[in-house]
Amino acid sequence: MCGIMGYIGNRPATPVLLDGLRRLEYRGYDSAGVAVLNGGTIEVRKVAGKLARLAELLERAPVDGVVGIGHTRWATHGEPSDGNAHPHADCTGRVVVIHNGIIENFLELKDELQGRGHRFRSDTDTEVLAHLIEEAFHGDLAKAVAQAVAKARGAYALVVLSADAPDEIVAVRMISPLIVGLGQDETLLASDIPALLPYTRDVVIIEDGEMAVITRAGVALSRIGGDPVVREPTRITWDAAAAEKGGYEHFMLKEIHEQPRALQETLMARLPSDREIALDGVAIAPDAARALTKVWLVACGTAYHAGLVGRILLERLAQIPAEADLGSEFRYREPIVGRHALAVAISQSGETADTIAAAREAQVRGARLLAVANVVGSTLAREAADVLYTRAGPEIAVCSTKAYLTQLVALAMLAMHLGHARGVLGRARVAGLIRSLRALPAHAQAALELEPEVVRLAERLHHVEDVFFIGRGLDYPVAMEGSLKLKEISYVHSEALAGGELKHGTLALVTPGVVVVALATQPELVDKTVSNIQQVRARGAEVIGLGTADTAAALGPHVDTLFTVPATDPLLAPVLSVIPLQLFAYHVARLRGNDVDQPRNLAKSVTVE
Ligand code: F6R
Repeated sequence: MCGIMGYIGNRPATPVLLDGLRRLEYRGYDSAGVAVLNGGTIEVRKVAGKLARLAELLERAPVDGVVGIGHTRWATHGEPSDGNAHPHADCTGRVVVIHNGIIENFLELKDELQGRGHRFRSDTDTEVLAHLIEEAFHGDLAKAVAQAVAKARGAYALVVLSADAPDEIVAVRMISPLIVGLGQDETLLASDIPALLPYTRDVVIIEDGEMAVITRAGVALSRIGGDPVVREPTRITWDAAAAEKGGYEHFMLKEIHEQPRALQETLMARLPSDREIALDGVAIAPDAARALTKVWLVACGTAYHAGLVGRILLERLAQIPAEADLGSEFRYREPIVGRHALAVAISQSGETADTIAAAREAQVRGARLLAVANVVGSTLAREAADVLYTRAGPEIAVCSTKAYLTQLVALAMLAMHLGHARGVLGRARVAGLIRSLRALPAHAQAALELEPEVVRLAERLHHVEDVFFIGRGLDYPVAMEGSLKLKEISYVHSEALAGGELKHGTLALVTPGVVVVALATQPELVDKTVSNIQQVRARGAEVIGLGTADTAAALGPHVDTLFTVPATDPLLAPVLSVIPLQLFAYHVARLRGNDVDQPRNLAKSVTVE
């Protein structure tokens, strides 16, 4: 989710690059840099921290030139630092690259390149591309870039500038977005449309697998290393604020729709074959995994709900007793932790004060700390012995969506990894789960296609006053998450209950007009949930059922409205079943006229206890 900017024209490049990067700030970043062609050489300025620090550096040490590239980094490999900031140069300094995304096989490539004498200056995956291009470049930059990327596996957008090809910038796209802006005798490149709007409204969207060579006169598109592609420019009519949201009305909706990609990036490179789970950043040796006596999952809010799912996955797949606790409560129970315990702190921001306090308490009491975090270099990530990054990209809406989905798959992979290391998870089961994990991005996309039906439901129900969410087993934490989403942004009173608990008190609140959302994605629990549905329907509640393609037939006859997400391994169903609930909360809030992205009284990262 880095910000990318490129410029070739006749005006000074640096202010254009800085201005574009500023317009991409909402994507989040931890460092920034530019490279500008200045009379036969390339000058690079880069620094960790806010864009203002780069602007200060450029004031002290300006760079002149009319061709350049710029980048804001959202770290995935290597801590945020001056050295890891982009652009990255080859050994000669005559080729520089900026990059958004992940090169899955960079360690292999780096080893090979070092073996051939290349000197690396950063810990990033990106730098391998600069050295690969250096090797392949013999006068034709586009050809060299095509040869270099043929060796790289992953999802990325790459932009390349060479002092020996001063009248062009070469870019390629593999999944990560990249857009060309066509100006008058000037051409721009950016990772998102808002950066281009001050200069032009005519854009060409580069598609996956394509290369763009931009010059002052325009753009030449082709398949990478292959045939030319002809594409008419698109005229952008959105204003800048709408463009930041990718045309969506709110960041929350944009982030809900980014979930298939966030899942894909989180899974990427971590499932190299049908047998292996390779968790970069997690170094728990098989002996240590076998010796584990307990896992404590600590987190707050939505991340806590991910922890409740993780607890079940760890017990089922790794056969380790596990407990999920609220970050804000853990310290006060004087937990008996012990030396062979693993504490898993889950946090999008990595800065939530209560989660940090719980993680520290667990460490003091003897646990090894593993962080599941989204922000690279955040406090939790720095303090943990192991870090499993979720790679959801920056989450801007206060209401967490894509971070939650990626936490779920990170925890599933962790449970599988530990189960495998402990010898309790057979090969066939691992292979089946890996196949199901790989299918999740496409299944999440299919779940998003329920949106028109969800909108119709929200239009009918947005004035409702009380909504109960019920579920059993893995459906219970998802019910809690669905309920929290609704409360948080729509301000509708809502509660989540384990289905079996209704009869122990809350059933007294169920009267005609009450809406009950019943989750039943776990085949062995559908009958029990159907009994709960009958209890609430008998008292006049309207029931919205949510199942998978495997459970829908058993659930359908007992509910007023049914939503069906694709069939998957039941242990992974929470990843899909939450999607219609996020959409429901969003559309109810929107129809009630609420400020969806910044709900009242709430903040994105809660750094107070
Ligand atoms: C709800 C929500 C919050 C956060 C919680 C923890 O939509 O966003 O409940 O999940 O404040 O935040 P992180 O994950 O940053 O620790």
